[in-house]
This record gives sequence, C-alpha cells and structure tokens, in this order.
Amino acid sequence: MTAQVDCLPLAAETADLVRQTGQALLSWQVERIEYKGNDPQDLVSNLDRKVQDRLAEGLQLLQKADFYAEEKTNAPISGLTWIVDPIDGTTNFISRGRDYAISVALYAGVKPLLGIVYDVERDDLYQGISGHGASLNGRPLAQPPAQPLSACILEMSIGTLRNLMRRTDAGLLNISREVRATRSMGCASLALCQVAAGRLQLYLSSRLRPWDHAAARVILEEVGGIVAPLFPAESEADPFLDGAPLLGAANRDLAAKILHRYFSPVADG
Ligand code: IPD
Ligand code: CA
Ligand code: CA
Ligand code: CA
Repeated sequence: MTAQVDCLPLAAETADLVRQTGQALLSWQVERIEYKGNDPQDLVSNLDRKVQDRLAEGLQLLQKADFYAEEKTNAPISGLTWIVDPIDGTTNFISRGRDYAISVALYAGVKPLLGIVYDVERDDLYQGISGHGASLNGRPLAQPPAQPLSACILEMSIGTLRNLMRRTDAGLLNISREVRATRSMGCASLALCQVAAGRLQLYLSSRLRPWDHAAARVILEEVGGIVAPLFPAESEADPFLDGAPLLGAANRDLAAKILHRYFSPVADG
C-alpha cells in the first residue's frame, strides 16, 4: 500500500527543518574526526552524527517513516523512507569549509516523492517535488537547454576516472577532449543540483550510495535530467543503485550519447 503523503506542505516544512539544521551546523564545532574502516580518505566528524540525529528527530515529527542514513546501520529501503546524507562532502566540510550539503529525500519504496539539497555555506536550497517541478531558493528551475557535447562541462574526479577505466576499455580518457572542460568539486548531491541548475551538464561517479543521490535525483529529474547507471545490469539488481557507477546528465539525449560512446558493451566477434 502506498502511503498518502501531502507532498507540497511537507516539502515546505522539510525545507525549513533542513535550513535550520544547516544554520545550526554553522555554529557548531568540529571536535572529533575519525577514519571509517581506517581509510584515511573516508572521514566522519562528530557533526555528521549531530546533524543526522537532529534530522532523525525532526523528520519523524513531520512525517513518520523509516530512516535510512549514512551514519547508521540500515535495513533495505522498502516502504515510506527518509533517505538522508547529513553532510554530503564531509572532506570538503572538514578541509575546505565549503562545497558540502545536507541531503534529504522522501521515497515511497522506489517512488521518489521529494528531495532537498541544502548548500549550507551559500545558503542555497534546492528542492524537487515529484510532479511539481524543482526550485532553487523558491525560484523554479527551468529545463536546462540542449547543448552539444563540445559545450558541456563534465564533473568527474581522478578517482572515478581510474575506477571506470578498469571497467571499460572504450578510451574514456578521450572524453576530456570531447567536452568543453572537466571539473571536480567533491560533493555528489551538489554536482547533480548544478546539472539541474544548468551550471554543469554531466556528472560521472564510480560509486555512489543511495543517500548521495536520492534527493538530487528528484531535483534533476524534475527539470528533465536523468540519473542513470553506467552499466544497465546494476539497475536491474537494485533500483537505488547502491554502490553503482552512475551518470547524471542534463537531458536524456546527452546521457544516451555518453552511455553509447563509452559504456555500451563491446559487440562480440
Ligand atoms: C561523498 C561525496 C563525494 C563522492 C563520494 C561520496 P560523503 O560523500 O558525495 O563527492 O565522490 O562518493 O561518498 O562521504 O562526503 O558524504
Ligand atoms: Ca562519508
Ligand atoms: Ca555523501
Ligand atoms: Ca555524508
């Protein structure tokens, strides 16, 4: 049974909660930084957990639902579920003090209902409500204009390039010559929102978890963009693409071009 949720008022209340939490975060102190699994590139701070705790409590008051979030142990997503990344871009938060976001989505099983991505430092709040469009600070986001590949900015890290080159022999390095430029900011949810806002056209990642893209995906899809697995078998196994390499694109044509050129299986014979 699909839960009946009145998404318009709930989205506004959720946006208020996320913005308030982000503003509180600006006044809190980082007291502890740990390495997850002893990986010196996988950081978590006391504030990732503090933001998550505040959202866990506040979101349940707005709408009772399961809570699926990065800094906890989760059961698989099934019914009505809040999907939360308390700080997306923790490394940026700790080392650079910018380019991080709070990401909150509500899904009914695999069906997206709403997504909010809050760029705390810029006080930019992106919101998408399924079937009702997307906005940035309350102003509607338009469908990004179609662009040839030669006019596109691609966001991709060197780590992603290295990981993807292990899985495809289609000369992925050439992509850097086909697009206008490449960039790497280090915050998946914000990169996908930049695609929705027309400041980037393509985003590639070799491994994302549901909390990294669940909210931004609603925003991007509401303006005609797409989040797609690079290797289609991944989506058959798990509609949330947990851990899958994926592509964010400003429109379906652009996505099809990249998938065909660089990620389609090599024909036999
Ligand atoms: C990370 C960021 C980063 C992406 C990583 C994510 P976190 O999230 O979104 O851009 O490349 O795959 O894990 O750990 O900072 O929440
Ligand atoms: Ca993390
Ligand atoms: Ca993340
Ligand atoms: Ca995080």
